[in-house]
Formats: sequence, structure tokens, C-alpha cells
Amino acid sequence: MAKRTIVAMPGDGIGKPVLNETIRVLDAAGFDAEYVEGDIGWEFWKSEGNPLPDRTIDLIKKHKIGLFGAITSKPKDAAFDELSDELKQKKLVYSSPIVGLRQHFGLDICMRPCHTYTGNPLNFIRRGVGDAIDEPLVDVVIFRQNTEGLYGGVEWSNPPEQVYDALMTHPKFVSNFGETPKEEISVSTRIFTKRATERILRAAFEHAKKYNYKSVTVCEKPNVIRETSGMMFKMAQEIQKVDFPNIDLWNTNIDAQMMWLTKNPEDYGVIVAGNMFGDIVSDGFAGLIGGLGFACSAQFNPDSGIGVFEPTHGSAPKYADYDTSIVNPIAMIESACMMLDFINENDIAARIRKAVAEVIEEGKVRTYDMSKMRGKADVVEKGAASTVEMANAVIAKL
Ligand code: NAI
Ligand code: MG
Repeated sequence: MAKRTIVAMPGDGIGKPVLNETIRVLDAAGFDAEYVEGDIGWEFWKSEGNPLPDRTIDLIKKHKIGLFGAITSKPKDAAFDELSDELKQKKLVYSSPIVGLRQHFGLDICMRPCHTYTGNPLNFIRRGVGDAIDEPLVDVVIFRQNTEGLYGGVEWSNPPEQVYDALMTHPKFVSNFGETPKEEISVSTRIFTKRATERILRAAFEHAKKYNYKSVTVCEKPNVIRETSGMMFKMAQEIQKVDFPNIDLWNTNIDAQMMWLTKNPEDYGVIVAGNMFGDIVSDGFAGLIGGLGFACSAQFNPDSGIGVFEPTHGSAPKYADYDTSIVNPIAMIESACMMLDFINENDIAARIRKAVAEVIEEGKVRTYDMSKMRGKADVVEKGAASTVEMANAVIAKL
């Protein structure tokens, strides 16, 4: 196969070491690629007033596949305070570059698998019958709509007159908020479109069919959020009935789901949700399989073939300046495996996954999180593996 070019976007904080180590693993596994660095993150917000420079957009447009570490985001006002006086005069408003990337390229399908690794000391356990300790096997894939909903960015504080007037046409707005001065109102919208909702639902059902999952669970809140969650569930019913009659369709409410996932996580297969609830439920399941050090994700647009692959964790600023990086690179390595699957390099992906599984099962090399230590600069002295040592262990298995 022709050599691939991958846009490597380390971003901020621990995004850098986890991405560096992942590229070493990819090289060791024989993935024939070159990497061009894409600028993204806080540094570029501060120096250029844009955390997602156009040159990075152009690189992704050209090469289509990106590996992304993590970025630091801060609230609007705090972000503005960090700009130089010159940039401040331009009245720039910070918005998250990763959310921007998703929207720019319509990376509307986000996939977050969470599966148990044999021997991971962080696996969830629960008390079973007769007080026996059970370690349920988790094998869940969350499909999160990645571009709309509460993260769609359509929001106001002290909304403009036209928006306020439109809201005042709704009887519930009048009865609940009609007496509140406009200046005291903030609004964040939750917009779902039929097109995007159908795409995420179909992606979830197709995945369930391809990998023999018995159920697809729509995890929303249609009993209360009737229009958006209600539309998603209704569309799921129609799609299931016509095209996927052999797959069960379940319906859970996000709040109850967060309780059930520690009671019976083995019951769930594919889960599909809007943007915010998908974000929440995927972190919930990630907690059962070892937490953020293990939580990987893919986001892509099946039409354009553009995909960006990233761990779900952030930049963990408190660990960013350690001389020796202590964080677990597995989430980033597994995200790179999702990239390999996406570009049909399935054999290399399978080899890396096997190597990771072997390292975890063997239990000799464990980062601080797996060693149940508090994240401090001295964890390596105390016997935890560093980021580099974990990558070395995976490479040795390869
Ligand atoms: P975070 O994910 O950066 O860190 C939370 C905690 O999780 C860390 O303090 C650490 O204890 C643990 N952790 C995270 N990654 C780990 C790893 N690979 N190995 C071991 N332990 C790990 O979330 P936090 O602290 O809420 O946010 C920090 C910054 O990251 C913020 O500026 C936030 O906006 C940003 N962020 C960026 C994301 C992205 O780039 N997609 C996603 C989430 C947060
Ligand atoms: Mg999240």
C-alpha cells in the first residue's frame, strides 16, 4: 500500500507525550506512514488568537486522517484574559478547537468502545449472589452524535431581541421565565436534525449487525426532552423495524443508565445517544474498564473519509510539566488502532491490540493509574511505569 500521511496534532499538556509514544508504537508495528504536525490548542490561541489555525484545517483536508492528543480549554473570560493587548482589541472569542474541527469537517459519527482487558487491576467488580465478587465483562460501543445538540454552540447570554421574542412565543417560556429580566437569562440550545440523527442511528445499527451485538440502546430522556430525545427514539424504532428486525432496540434514560451501568454492564452492547448524553455515558462506561487512561475514540465522516482519532481524556495540565511523563498512553494507542481500522489496516491494528492486551494481562508494567497511585511526580520512583516505559512494553510484545 502507498505510504500514508497522517496529520499528528499533539495539542497541549499530556497530548504531546501520549501522541509521541503512540507514533513509536505504530512505527514498531510496521505501519508505513509519515506524520506532518498540525498546530492546535492553547499555545496558538495565545499567540495567534486562534486555537485551530487555517493551516491545520488545510492539512486535514489534504491528508484526511488525523491523530489528536488533547487540548486545554478554558472558559470564555479566562481565555480572553490570556491574550496579548493587541489580540484583545480584536474582540476574539475562544471556542474549543476540537469541537470546531468536528463541526468544520462534519465528523458527526463518534465511536467510543469500552471493553474489559483481562487482568486490568482497574476492572470494575461488584458483589454478586452470596456476596461473591463478580467481574462482569464489559463490551460496549457508544455511538455519540458529534456535531449537534448541546454542543452545537448556538447559545446566548442576554439573548438578542429577536431570539427573546421568539422564546416568548412558547407558553412554557412565558410561564417559567417570562418574569425574569432578559439580561439574567442564558440559553444553550439543543438542536437535533433528522439527517444527523438518522446517520448516527444507522451507524450504530450497522455496527451492531456487523459485530453481532444483540441490542442497540438509545440512551436519551424522551419522557422529558420530548422533541429531541423523542425524535431520536421514534426514528430508531422505524429504522429497527424496517432494516434491523433481528437486533433488539432498547430505550434507557440517561440518568437511570448511569445507575444501571454499574449494576448490569454486561447487558449492554451498542449504545447510541446525542452529543452530551453520549459524552456522559461513554465516560461512565470508561470508568468500568480502567478510566480515562483506557478510553479511546474515533470521529469521522463516512462520506468524505475524513477521520480524527483521539483519546477521550483531556490535557491533564497538572501532569504536563513533569520531567518524566507518567500518564497512561493506552487510550491514545487504542485510538490509533481505531484509525488503522478506519483505513483498512486491520492486521496492524489487531497486532497492536494483542500486544496491549498481553502487557495488561501480564501485569509487570503498570502506569500510576493501574498501580492505584495518586498522580504525582514521584510515582515512577515508587515503581509505576512512565508513559515511555508503557509504550516500550507494548513495542517489546510486538
Ligand atoms: P483530563 O482528562 O485532562 O484529566 C482528568 C484526570 O484524569 C487527570 O487529572 C488524571 O488524573 C486523569 N487522566 C487523564 N488522562 C489520563 C491518562 N492518559 N492516564 C492516566 N490518567 C489520566 O480532564 P480535566 O482535568 O477535566 O481537563 C483538563 C483540560 O483538558 C481542560 O482544559 C479541559 O477543557 C481539557 N479537555 C480536553 C479534551 C480534549 O482535548 N478532547 C477532553 C476533556 C478535557
Ligand atoms: Mg468527555
